[in-house]
Formats: sequence, structure tokens, C-alpha cells
Amino acid sequence: MKAIILSGGKGTRLRPLTHTNAKQLIPVANKPILYFVIEQILEAGITDIGVIISPETGARVREVVGSGERWDCSITYILQEKPLGLAHAVKTAAHFLGREPFLMFLGDNLIQGGVKHLVADFEETDIEAIIQLKEVKNPQQFGVAQLGYGEQVIRLMEKPKDPPSNLALVGVYLFKSQIFAAIEKITPSWRGELEITDAIQKLIDDGYRVKACQLQGWWLDTGKKDDILEANRVILDEYVCYQNLGFVDQDSVLAGRVEIGVGTKVINSRLRGPICIGKNVIIKDSFIGPYTTVGENSVLEHVGVEHSVVLENCRLYNVDRIEDSLIGYNTLVEKGVTRKNTVRLFVGDDSQVIV
Ligand code: TTP
Repeated sequence: MKAIILSGGKGTRLRPLTHTNAKQLIPVANKPILYFVIEQILEAGITDIGVIISPETGARVREVVGSGERWDCSITYILQEKPLGLAHAVKTAAHFLGREPFLMFLGDNLIQGGVKHLVADFEETDIEAIIQLKEVKNPQQFGVAQLGYGEQVIRLMEKPKDPPSNLALVGVYLFKSQIFAAIEKITPSWRGELEITDAIQKLIDDGYRVKACQLQGWWLDTGKKDDILEANRVILDEYVCYQNLGFVDQDSVLAGRVEIGVGTKVINSRLRGPICIGKNVIIKDSFIGPYTTVGENSVLEHVGVEHSVVLENCRLYNVDRIEDSLIGYNTLVEKGVTRKNTVRLFVGDDSQVIV
């Protein structure tokens, strides 16, 4: 069995970060989201992976992910010239996939517990597709499935005004080669994309069986700023352990699960976990509160940061309290005048913010 990861797209909801970087490479707990996806695919026993890339961010994805040596697997890059939809991405990968059954994983989705059981189920059955579903409060904003007898899917709708259920499609799908014929029969939707929901509906209409599997754990779609912060919170909560590979001076206090990378220096500061501090960071006279990740080579002096993601090479100086913020690569945040307000930020790479 093969897998494809959809790592193209426009990423408009994460601009300006996605002007210069692929959203799938944004780190959560200092690890690119795409790495989590690749590792979950490998855990399911699939080692032949195709990664769909876009002309804008494809080179960066290749550079960061490489050809698979890091994980001892094979990674093939497949260029999708335009982001014409999830079904279009599958069509673009037809040559790579051949006639084999395959797993399709959206490169900006994180799923608790991975896809091991789902893949094992699919390998044992003779049905044509499995989709994964999750109960959500706002089904109007997702692809939604209606189930019939058992776990049989009878209808799929993209962002319905009047949803037939609260079961949203999670970014993981399993297909056999019939999906290609179904994609050939659909036309672009009102938003100009070939929708995977339409292709699956076509499979159902043509008499093929599509089964649903409901996800009990969390599902994080990291398409927007607050989703990244939520993913960071959940991943730090679940995975981070106490580990200090840096230097912490005697005037500093570490509390809870704090991870500190090699070469990092903590001077006269309080760090309260769960937090993840990357390599070669300097933290001086500061407070780093729960659910914060700081990327490597950043410098924080006289700041308070909580529930935030600070990407690599940032400089944060003299700001009393930064909360709920996603700060892009190489960013400078500095207090210019004496004011004690909390600041909330969503700034892009190479930005400079004087607050
Ligand atoms: P989306 O988040 O639905 O789309 P997008 O990346 O264009 O984002 P936005 O809505 O903010 O503009 O895509 C889900 C995943 O699939 C994501 O990892 C990007 C990828 N994708 C492709 O690879 N090709 C495509 O044609 C599309 C639409 C998405």
C-alpha cells in the first residue's frame, strides 16, 4: 500500500506566514506538522510516500523533508501546478499510485492515535473506501457525512447549510483505484475545485461501498492561527516531558514539564510547563508560561510569554505579556513606549513590531 500527503494548497488563512513558507512546515512543539503526518503513516506500516507540493512552497518542503533517509522510507515529490482541489491532487498523483490501494492524508492535519488501525481495517476488507469522521459542533464549516445502516456512508455534503449530521470528514481517507474513475466524472465546484467529497459521492452513486470510521480522539486541522495554538497546546500537553539539555542559572526556576534544547541559556527567569524551548535560545529576566513553544536561536529578554508559538530566530524584548500569539520566523518584537497593556500578535516572517 502507498500513501500520499497533500502538502500543496494556497494556505490563504495563514497568511502572512504562508507567503514564505508552507503551512505544513510550521512547527508544533518545535517539530513540523508534516513530520507528525509522515511518522503516523510509517507507524501504519506504509513506507512508500508521495508528497503533493505546490510551485510556491514545494522547494522548501523538499529541502526540509528530504527523500526519506531520516525515517528510512521513500518520499517522492509530485508537483501540482495549481491548487485545484483535493480530488485534483489525487488525480495528479495517479502515476505514482498506479493501481494500488492508498492512504490519503492532508498535510496540515494531526490525529490522535494515528492511522494504524484504520489502515489495518482497510487491508482486511474488500470495500472501496474508508473515510474518517469526527463529531463537531459546527458541521456547517466542514465536509459532512450521513450514515445509513452500520457504518455505511450514504451521502456527503461540502459545508452544508442544513447539515444531515454533525459528523465531519477528518483529513484521512483510504481508497482503491475506483476513485480515479469517480474523479473523472466530477466537475469543479462553485469554488473552482475538484472536491474529494464529490468524488466519494460519485463512488457511492455508482454502487461502491464507502465505510465510515469515527475518531474518538482529537483531530486538529491547523489551517488558521488559533488552530496552530490549539495544536501546540494539545501536543505539549500530550508529549512534552521534563528535559534540560541547556544551561539554567541558579536564579531561575523551572516548574512542571519543561523541555530545553542544547545550547540554550536560561538566566534569572521563571519557566512553567508544559513548554518547549528549542536549541540555542537565550532567555533572560523573563517568564515563559504554559503552552508556549520557542523556536531555535531566539532571544527573549524582559518578556512574559504564555500560550504562544514563537518561531525560529525571533527577538522579543521588554514586553510585559504576550499571549495567544503566533510569531513568525526572524521577527523582532520590542516595546517602544512604557505601557502595560497585553498585546496579541499574528505577524509574518521577517516582521518588526514595536509595541
Ligand atoms: P485546505 O486547507 O483545504 O486548502 P488550502 O491549503 O488551499 O488553505 P486555505 O483554505 O487557507 O487557502 O487544504 C488541505 C490540505 O490539502 C493542505 O495541506 C493543503 C493541501 N492541498 C493540496 O495539496 N492541493 C490542493 O489543491 C488543495 C486545495 C489543498
